[in-house]
Amino acid sequence: MLASSSQTSQRCSGALCDSHGRRVQYFRLSITDRCNLRCLYCRSQIQHKFIPHPQVLRYEEILRLTHIMVAAGTRKLRLTGGEPFARKGCDRLLLMLRERFPTLDLRLTTNGTLVEPYIPLLKRVGVGAVNLSLDSFNRETFAHVTGRDFLPAVLSTLDSLLSAGISVKLNAVAMRGINDRQLDDFVHAARTLPVDVRFIEFMPMGNGTLWGPETFWPADEIYRDASRLAELRPETERREHAGPARMFKVAGGKGRLGFISAVSSHFCSTCNRLRLTCDGHLRTCLFDDREYPLLELLRRQDCTDAELDQVVRQACLHKPIGAEILKQRVQGKAVAEKQMVGIGG
Ligand code: 5AD
Ligand code: SF4
Repeated sequence: MLASSSQTSQRCSGALCDSHGRRVQYFRLSITDRCNLRCLYCRSQIQHKFIPHPQVLRYEEILRLTHIMVAAGTRKLRLTGGEPFARKGCDRLLLMLRERFPTLDLRLTTNGTLVEPYIPLLKRVGVGAVNLSLDSFNRETFAHVTGRDFLPAVLSTLDSLLSAGISVKLNAVAMRGINDRQLDDFVHAARTLPVDVRFIEFMPMGNGTLWGPETFWPADEIYRDASRLAELRPETERREHAGPARMFKVAGGKGRLGFISAVSSHFCSTCNRLRLTCDGHLRTCLFDDREYPLLELLRRQDCTDAELDQVVRQACLHKPIGAEILKQRVQGKAVAEKQMVGIGG
């Protein structure tokens, strides 16, 4: 049940809050729209036009915005892309973020193909967890989904992350006809490795991806099929801590299996996130194409932090219930104009 606006104003004085009483404490920052892979669910086959470098937020601008967000209550910051390590100096950015924000829960979503040399650095800066995209343990399927034959490299990264004692979540986009026959590989991974393996329902983001009713594999079905392969014990973490995934311990195993029902069953009432695209557009909901441009403001000589803070707060007030936007989607069309590569997942 979502809160009324009078309840909201009482609960959220000072902290960043929306008009549904949701406290926003999680900031997802896309630092580049460039990527060395071409995943079927994220980028269309049509050439994605990269954002020209001068329009991409500079690191000092990212640090300034992070400072404003932290002052407004952000506790968790995730760097996303494209592929974050496709941007030169991503390691330097991580170091600067840690130096300036020692208690921030710093995380990363990566495709795992470029990150291996930076694992000691991730350890040093104390990254809370790395989310690694891994849609198949089958080399051919992996190459089909991502457009590159990089499965061995990603598995090697996974190994090195675990050896370094870094917590890993594997993200698998569930796609019927693509990886739905490989459930036993994922269950095996959750059983034998100390990782969270999470299936994410395929979201219709941007036209031109592989999304369609025939490729959609609902979380309930995956759960039902997985329960035939292993005993799944529900975890009782509170939604706020668990994030959007419903998590299950694999009985007798080391890891967990999770389901993110981004399309079939929404979790909007606990959504605590804001996103920033690499060209400085604030996005309050994955499914909402309204964006709030911050780049120009950031580059205006006379723009103060207080002004930026106000723009973020105003935007936040209009953070919608994404499930309602999803419901209104015209059948067969995407829910948002932008593909995921330009938003950051
Ligand atoms: N549907 C679901 N998840 C997606 N991701 C990207 N595009 C989609 C989509 N259409 C997720 C993947 C990827 C991360 C960056 O975002 O898990 O690893
Ligand atoms: Fe690149 Fe990640 Fe998109 Fe795949 S999902 S194309 S790895 S940004």
